[in-house]
Amino acid sequence: MPTTTTSIYEQLKARLRDTVPDAELRLKAEIAERILELKRERNAVILAHNYMEPALFHSVPDFKGDSLELSRKAAETDAEVIVFCGVRFMAETAKILSPDKMVLLPAKKAGCSLAASITAEDVRNLKAQFPGVPVVTYVNTYADVKAETDICCTSSNAVKVVESLGDGPVIFLPDEYLAGNVARETGRRIIFPTKIPQARLDELEYQFIGWEGRCEVHERFTVEDIENARRQFPDVVVLAHPECPPEVVSAADFSGSTTAMIQYVQRNPKGRYLMLTECSMADNVMAENPDAEMLRMCSIRCPHMNEITLEDTLASLENLQYQIEVPEDIRVRAHRAVARMIEIGSKD
Ligand code: 13P
Ligand code: SF4
Repeated sequence: MPTTTTSIYEQLKARLRDTVPDAELRLKAEIAERILELKRERNAVILAHNYMEPALFHSVPDFKGDSLELSRKAAETDAEVIVFCGVRFMAETAKILSPDKMVLLPAKKAGCSLAASITAEDVRNLKAQFPGVPVVTYVNTYADVKAETDICCTSSNAVKVVESLGDGPVIFLPDEYLAGNVARETGRRIIFPTKIPQARLDELEYQFIGWEGRCEVHERFTVEDIENARRQFPDVVVLAHPECPPEVVSAADFSGSTTAMIQYVQRNPKGRYLMLTECSMADNVMAENPDAEMLRMCSIRCPHMNEITLEDTLASLENLQYQIEVPEDIRVRAHRAVARMIEIGSKD
């Protein structure tokens, strides 16, 4: 971890000189230096998701990663304050796991279209409709939804979590496309109760019950994007996040969590890649893997992840804002579902 403005500037310059103008890098380095000082004074730890903008991602975080890795770190840290450079549901998960710590989200909103797609009441209604069927909930949900859940999952362990529940039916919420991808990988037939009248539902055979939530970023990638890239660059390796539509995931060469995609590039550092995920991530991967060629065809940014900047992170530590709170009765129930997921772990 850098200790002086010069070293942070040089560290940023080494990684980002081709993507960020020099004057901006100097400014960002100064802000990063102030963040690191305050972080020490406050006994804080900074966790950053792989989608954070490059200047932040390459300067201040103590830990970077996908949702599963960050929730593990949030559970393990002994710092007094956790600054979560990610979106609200991630910061809530940190609070669920570390209730005695102050958890700060640098931007007040930083939501998620998946988390907004389902309420705790929706889950209760589904449980009444399918009594006894276990409920798996993607971590991209708010605490009250997690509290209604048997077990959580992330994109890196969804298949493993579903398989841990045996062969019977499963309710998998709320991402329609992740559900479709997991259903296919586990060889199950999926239905969406909101699209089927109850009378017909009683006659149907199903093993996987989905919900119609979508990630507003990943739902926009198409098979045509892949075909266009392959036409121009026949050797391109296409990496797709499992929140992409199933036909897109099928047409890709590899699908995995944000960290799994990063690791794929690290294992094959000389390839040419198209990453079907939030744009900042390709910038971050490129900065750390200069021999990898990332096709700059990305135009889709997550407006929620993009709310978090170095400036907000500084203000967050200065003013101890915005503090995440989860009511204790909800937290205790949500904790069971998250802790059960962490016990099961990731794919490897
Ligand atoms: P990961 O767990 O793969 O990092 O995904 C989080 C996310 O929000 C993807 O859109
Ligand atoms: Fe939510 Fe999609 Fe943004 Fe991830 S990329 S935080 S799933 S809206």
